[in-house]
Amino acid sequence: MCGIVGYIGQKEKTMNVLLNGLERLEYRGYDSTGIAYFHKNNVEILKKTGKLNQLKNVVNKNIQSEIGIGHTRWATHGKPSELNAHPHCCGKITAVHNGIIENMNSLKKKLQDEGISFISDTDTEVLVALLNYEYEHTNHMVTAMERTMSQIIGSYAVVFINEDDKDCLYVMKKDSPLLLGIGNQETYIASDMSAFCEFTNQYCILDDEEYGVVEKNHYHIYKDGKEIKKDIEKIEGLSCLSNKEAYDCYMHKEIYDIPKILKELFTFYEDEHSHLIPDYKKYHKIQIVACGSAYHAGMIGKCLFEQFANFPVEVEYASEYRYKTIFADENTLVIFVSQSGETADTIACAKKIKSMGVDSLAIVNVYNSTLSRLTNYVYYMKAGEERAVATTKGYSSQVAIFVILLREWMKQQKTWSKELEAMYQDGKEKLLKVITPCLKQYEHFSWISNLINQPSNFFIGRRSDYALSMEASLKLKEVSYLNSSAYAAGELKHGTISLIEEKTPVFAIATDEYTYSKTKSNLMEVKARGGYVILATLDTLDDSIDVDEKIIIPDVNPLFQSIMTILPFQLLSYHVAKKLKLDIDHPRNLAKSVTVE
Ligand code: M6R
Repeated sequence: MCGIVGYIGQKEKTMNVLLNGLERLEYRGYDSTGIAYFHKNNVEILKKTGKLNQLKNVVNKNIQSEIGIGHTRWATHGKPSELNAHPHCCGKITAVHNGIIENMNSLKKKLQDEGISFISDTDTEVLVALLNYEYEHTNHMVTAMERTMSQIIGSYAVVFINEDDKDCLYVMKKDSPLLLGIGNQETYIASDMSAFCEFTNQYCILDDEEYGVVEKNHYHIYKDGKEIKKDIEKIEGLSCLSNKEAYDCYMHKEIYDIPKILKELFTFYEDEHSHLIPDYKKYHKIQIVACGSAYHAGMIGKCLFEQFANFPVEVEYASEYRYKTIFADENTLVIFVSQSGETADTIACAKKIKSMGVDSLAIVNVYNSTLSRLTNYVYYMKAGEERAVATTKGYSSQVAIFVILLREWMKQQKTWSKELEAMYQDGKEKLLKVITPCLKQYEHFSWISNLINQPSNFFIGRRSDYALSMEASLKLKEVSYLNSSAYAAGELKHGTISLIEEKTPVFAIATDEYTYSKTKSNLMEVKARGGYVILATLDTLDDSIDVDEKIIIPDVNPLFQSIMTILPFQLLSYHVAKKLKLDIDHPRNLAKSVTVE
């Protein structure tokens, strides 16, 4: 979602830092862009709708300015337009903001009663007007920030400049990420470190309700009216940056990253880091909380724990869990799954669980992300930077972590038998051996055109194949915009089968020997109604079934099968989107990091 960049330092560098930073944040998803900087004692603002290139075309990169702020906006209040794009200016204050001001209407009314008028539909303009109002009434920016923060309800990461102070930037943060990058006589500000990690490897993370003044070589951060000391952390190497290499888009490249990531992940957690595991013996219940694909990975986790450890697991959408009655106590482990570690709903749940004193574990990719700092234990996914909005390698590594967790859990319970260890080693070896050649095989589906122009596509499966159906369906609709839904295979005939007509594509994922014949019957029901059936099944399962197309998947074994089975669907979605000439890495309306609820 919205990305923020700020810079104070060398005047010949500012434009480059802002534009590069915004480019690095593009992956988060956005629909308009803008920058503001001091130039010849005035604030200049440039905004454009659409892609960053539109903005780059109108920016004079030779402008000399020591201070600037930049923004990629993902519309929440008001459609994408230049008027609604950030930065917003009111009086002496010009700001960029990520988050949502929930009480904007009452604040706007109050300010309007004071004679202040507004030109955009945004909550941000209200926030800026309030900051300016408080500054006019106090003539002291830090006090004005405190007074503003005491009135706003909602989430915000804000960076702003004040025409009266041309040698500093101001920051405020609550529930949306904001980091400072510390350079030599220069300071960077950004929503995530990828925006500045090519310039400095020192950074500090702002925590909720902190605010402050950022200068070239100092920063003063406050909380509750008192200045506080912030810890400076170090980015290890500059590994947070990735590039497309020879691939045509990040999604394609990231699918091909999967074999290497998995190999390293298994080695890492097997060799040195298994002692990271908490004492599992005390837990009677696991709840997994996540959103989107991370939720789907959690569903696989549930299947694994229930099937192999005979242990009950609940999986919940974070957006529901945060508002429901939570049944968790000292014997519950709540596992939060999130690639970004910044998903607003998941973070809200983690805060709630922390306040209840319940143990939590994060499965997270981004090092030091908000979620990783809220939980008792962290399993890093070690998938490297994922830039395509549609997750592929992130999802695969989340599922792999569940396999690793299961093994450690059962070892601690002394239920991990020699047979299971043999199955684990054998499955892992098979998976790592077949995965790369298989990716190449799934590069061509001659029947892709049969999916396009159909009103709906369906995915069905049972148990872990149902969880995979949900992920396969989400992937397809995210990047290709084809309408698609997933169902538990047995549910189709309870209503949805009314939608099956001649040529309606129905994908059946049937890799589970135990339920194979049942899913097969459901397929026959679809076929009898003219559906176009694509069966994804194992090379070892009965092949005699009469379907329109088959996707044959190597039989790895039930521990690792899901990691293998999702691959053709990730590649299929990529190929459909490519055929439709869509922007695969940045699907419309989507954001990589969903930092508002
Ligand atoms: O960063 P997170 O894993 O918390 O993100 C959760 C979802 O927003 C994310 O998985 C989303 O569904 C992806 N676009 C899926 O490709």
